[in-house]
Amino acid sequence: MSSDELLSDRWLKKLDRTSQELAQRIGMDRKTFGEVFDKTTLLRLSKLFSDGTLQQMDFPISTGKEANIFRATTPKGKLVAVKIYRTSNLTFKHILTYIEGDPRFKHNIKSHRDILDEWAKKEFKNLSRLHELGIRVPAPLKRLHNIVVMEYIGTKDKAAPMLKDVDPPDPKAVYTEVMAFVTKMYKDRLVHADLSPFNILFYRRKPYIIDVGQAVLLDHPQALEFLKRDLKNIVRYFQKYGINGDDEKIYARLTKKVKSS
Ligand SMILES: Nc1ncnc2c1ncn2[C@@H]1O[C@H](COP(=O)(O)OP(=O)(O)OP(=O)(O)O)[C@@H](O)[C@H]1O
Ligand SMILES: [Mg+2]
Repeated sequence: MSSDELLSDRWLKKLDRTSQELAQRIGMDRKTFGEVFDKTTLLRLSKLFSDGTLQQMDFPISTGKEANIFRATTPKGKLVAVKIYRTSNLTFKHILTYIEGDPRFKHNIKSHRDILDEWAKKEFKNLSRLHELGIRVPAPLKRLHNIVVMEYIGTKDKAAPMLKDVDPPDPKAVYTEVMAFVTKMYKDRLVHADLSPFNILFYRRKPYIIDVGQAVLLDHPQALEFLKRDLKNIVRYFQKYGINGDDEKIYARLTKKVKSS
């Protein structure tokens, strides 16, 4: 633990009490709570409270394979999403496939925690890059170790649904926009690498791309394979709305364009 995380005994006791209250308030059983909020994560979270990033945790939005997402509120009353990469149940091999081969990330990762931190760092960087490009993603707000704070997509009471769970009123417009996002990303040498209607939120008739931790640069040896899969997932989903995109054609057009430019 780094020195800035070493808080006093008094703090730890207080933290223990607050964590029990937090578990109750956000309706998590003790076991799940303990898995997500191990002591180190709690200390990090408490730092986000003391530095004014967060005022309160509201409720859990999702428990995914690799992270837990919570809704939280800032001292100014802004609603945010807090993604906490978990220290357990992590599929390291899967994660390493993406980190290895990406020159932006440090090699010789030593510990479990290192990987979680790198993963959160990668998601934050990718969110920032995509946000700057004008691709609709949750705006990144802060990263501390394995915790990413970002813009919350949803209403006061409920997070936005995934695209797979809604029937968009104008599917063609959503399809066109998602494909435009993929193209724009590709031109910026990035591939999402886990794009599907699971990782697109639908809010106020607009698609939001999420879960960009695994996005890779074109230098990655499997980048084109991932691109092919992303395009296939999107085309397949929109077929039910009578949109018959040709992912192989799009792939060919896309890869040709960038190579020749
Ligand atoms: N910024 C956000 N605003 C609102 N809801 C969000 C936000 N980010 C994530 N979520 C919700 O949390 C879920 C999981 O997020 P994400 O896909 O980033 O994490 P994950 O660990 O990869 O999850 P999974 O393993 O289920 O894919 C999303 O499907 C969505 O419902
Ligand atoms: Mg996801």
